[in-house]
Amino acid sequence: MRRARLRIALITAAVVTLLITAVGWVCDTVTTRAQNEQVWRELRFGAAVGDLSKPPVCTWLFADGVSPLANAPAGFPLSGDVDQVRRTHRAVERTLRRDGTVYLVRTQARADGPVVQAVFDMRYQLADRTHLWSALGVSEVMGLLASAGVGALLGRVSVTPLAEALARQRRFVTDASHELRTPITQAYTRVQVLSRQAAAQKLPAGHREGLDRLTGSLGRLGEVLDDLLLSASLMAGPARQSEHRPLDLAALARSVAAEESETLDGRLTLQVEAPPHPLPVNGVESALRRAVGELLSNAVRHTPAGGRIEMTLSRADGMVALTVADTGRGFSSAEAERLFERFHRGGDDGRYGLGLALLREVVTHHGGTVTASSRPGHGARFTIRLPGCAPPLTHAPAHRATAGRR
Ligand SMILES: Nc1ncnc2c1ncn2[C@@H]1O[C@H](COP(=O)(O)OP(=O)(O)OP(=O)(O)O)[C@@H](O)[C@H]1O
Ligand SMILES: [Mg+2]
Repeated sequence: MRRARLRIALITAAVVTLLITAVGWVCDTVTTRAQNEQVWRELRFGAAVGDLSKPPVCTWLFADGVSPLANAPAGFPLSGDVDQVRRTHRAVERTLRRDGTVYLVRTQARADGPVVQAVFDMRYQLADRTHLWSALGVSEVMGLLASAGVGALLGRVSVTPLAEALARQRRFVTDASHELRTPITQAYTRVQVLSRQAAAQKLPAGHREGLDRLTGSLGRLGEVLDDLLLSASLMAGPARQSEHRPLDLAALARSVAAEESETLDGRLTLQVEAPPHPLPVNGVESALRRAVGELLSNAVRHTPAGGRIEMTLSRADGMVALTVADTGRGFSSAEAERLFERFHRGGDDGRYGLGLALLREVVTHHGGTVTASSRPGHGARFTIRLPGCAPPLTHAPAHRATAGRR
C-alpha cells in the first residue's frame, strides 16, 4: 500500500514536471521567435533608412565616413561583410555570440550609395529569456512540492479504501479458516479412529475404503486451511518480518524429509545431501517448513514406485540453495511457466493447485527465488534460493543422511 501511495505521488510529480517543462519550452520558443522577428524587422529598417547619427536603442549603424558612437561595441563593423556587400551588392545577415551577448548584424548597400552595417545587441532580450526560465524554475519547484503533496493526498484517499477492503478480506479468510480448523481437525481425528475400528472389526472393504477416502479428504481440507492461514499472514507483510529468526535450513530440510519419509512405505528413496555445517537463513520456520514440505510432497506424488528423490543443500555467493530433484514424470517447458500460478493443477484430480503458488509467496517474502526445470519423463527439479545470514558460532557434526528408505 505504501508503495502504491508512493507511486501515485511520483507519477503526479512526473506529470506536473513534464507539463511545466512543456509549457516552458513552448513559452521559450514563442518568445525567442517573436523577439528575433521584431529585432530583424527593426534592424532591416535601420540599415535601409535609419538616421546614421541617431540609431534606435541597442542598435549601432556603421557606414563609410560616419564615425561610430562612443559606446559602439568593439570589433564592429565586420569588414568581411562590408567587403562582400560591396562586391555582390547583396545584403548579408548573421548572428554573432560575443562578449557574453548575442549580436544580430545586417550589412546592406543603401539605395543612395553607402554600405551600412546595422548591429543589434540582444542582451535585454536574453535577460528576458533568463527571467522566464528562472520563473519557470521557481514554478517547477513549487509545482513539484504541490504535486508531491497532492499525489500523497490522492494516494491516501484512493488507496486507503482498497487497503481497508484487503485487510477486511484477509481478516475474513483468517477468521473463517481459524473457525473451520478446529471442527475439521476433530472430524479428521474421529474419522481416523473410525477407520481404525473399521479395520479391526473387519467391516466390509467398501466401508473401509470409504472411510479411508474420507480421511484423505479431511486431511487435505486441513492442509488447504493451513495454506489459507499462511497466505493471509504472508499478505500482512512487514508485521511478519518481525517473526523472522535465524534458522538452519539444512536441519529444517532434514527434519521435513524425515517426516515425509515416514509416509513413503519404502515406495521411494529419499536422500538429503547437505554440507557438514549449518546453512543459516533468516526466516519464519513454519512457513519455510511448509515450503520445503510442499516440494517434497509434490515430488513424492509425481514419482512412480521405485523412483528416487534427492534433496541437496549448498551455499554460494551468500545464497543458500535447496534443490529437490525426482525421477518422476516431470513436465514440459510450457507447463513450467504456469506451475506457480494459483489453481494450476496440471491435471491432478482432487488437488487444489495452490502449493507452488504459496511456496513462491513464502520464498519471495523471504527475499529469495524459486525455479523449476524438467525434461518430460526424466524427472523434475525445483530450486529455492534464500539469502544466507551470518553462520552461528557452533558447528553441527558432519551429515549425509538417507532420510527414508523403506
Ligand atoms: N515434482 C513434480 N513433478 C511433476 N509435476 C509437478 C511436480 N511438482 C508440481 N508439479 C505440477 O505442478 C502442479 C502444481 O503444483 P502445486 O503444488 O501448486 O499444486 P498441487 O500439488 O496440484 O495441489 P496442492 O499443492 O494445492 O495440493 C501440479 O499439479 C503438477 O502438475
Ligand atoms: Mg502441491
